Amino acid sequence: MEIIKTVVIGAGTMGNGITHVMAQSGFSVTMVDVSREALDRGMGIINKNLARMVSKEKITENSKNETLGRITTATDLDEAVKDADLVVEAVNENFELKEKIFRQLDLNAPAGCILASNTSSISITKLGAVTGRAGRVIGMHFFNPVPVMKLVEVVRGLDTLDEVNDAVVEMSKKLGKEPVPVNDYPGFVSNRVLMPMINEAIFCVHEGVGTPENIDNVMKLGMAHPMGPLRLADFIGLDVCLDILNVLYEGFRDPKYRPCPLLVKMVDAGKLGDKTGQGFYTTA
Ligand code: CAA
Repeated sequence: MEIIKTVVIGAGTMGNGITHVMAQSGFSVTMVDVSREALDRGMGIINKNLARMVSKEKITENSKNETLGRITTATDLDEAVKDADLVVEAVNENFELKEKIFRQLDLNAPAGCILASNTSSISITKLGAVTGRAGRVIGMHFFNPVPVMKLVEVVRGLDTLDEVNDAVVEMSKKLGKEPVPVNDYPGFVSNRVLMPMINEAIFCVHEGVGTPENIDNVMKLGMAHPMGPLRLADFIGLDVCLDILNVLYEGFRDPKYRPCPLLVKMVDAGKLGDKTGQGFYTTA
């Protein structure tokens, strides 16, 4: 099946990054959010990232303008998806919110439209089950910063059709990404492997094994990670890390995924990392 018209739901970090990449790859894309302010903020970030690419001579001013010209914004989701071939939902990691959106998408998007979620850990099978088209529901998990990171984790729910998996793999390649298909289990592959490492690094702070800087330096200098796990946790958002660890813990009922009490305490205190300026590091 051919994907021409795309819609991204959510203008936050992931939503505006996915919109940027789709438009830059030649797709016409509508970015949807509940408020005009959120859409303006998202467009501002896309503009800034494209302008940086122009200043580094990676793209021309003309191609920046063409990319921007392929993006429209909307607050009316029902209207935006009525002729879509692919919708990528990228709202907050909250099952009730995603469930509501998937029900709405099922009612308003054409029958053949693929409904993808950028969720980092919520079950694709469960999202599929709230629609009447579980075969056309799939995970399309991008990584932050979306314009830079090569991976798309393509997550198959229990009922996802082969043709939908193949179309999303093809689409990801057209976006200049490297799709990796995986099956739907808690945390998929990415966060099942990443989050226990981040959690263990937080336990190291909690138990006084090392300072955040020293723990991060061990992983940067010894294992060639671009960011240490605590810097990365701040970058991802400590609330997001906690939510994902809870999905792993509840999904497998295995104590190895129990979130470190220090992580819980920091989230309770509103220290969520880069987005609040305070986490393991102070950024604002
Ligand atoms: N948009 C576009 N380009 C961006 C960007 C953005 N938001 N952020 C950085 N860049 C570009 C820069 O312009 C720069 O480009 P050039 O190489 O052409 O100069 C390049 O990326 C590197 O950026 P910087 O020089 O500013 O900084 P850096 O070398 O320290 O790299 C980084 C920054 C790419 C973020 C790097 O530190 C990194 O790879 N960190 C790990 C990120 C990671 O693990 N992300 C996944 C998080 S998990 C997730 O997203 C999903 C989940 O489910 C939780």
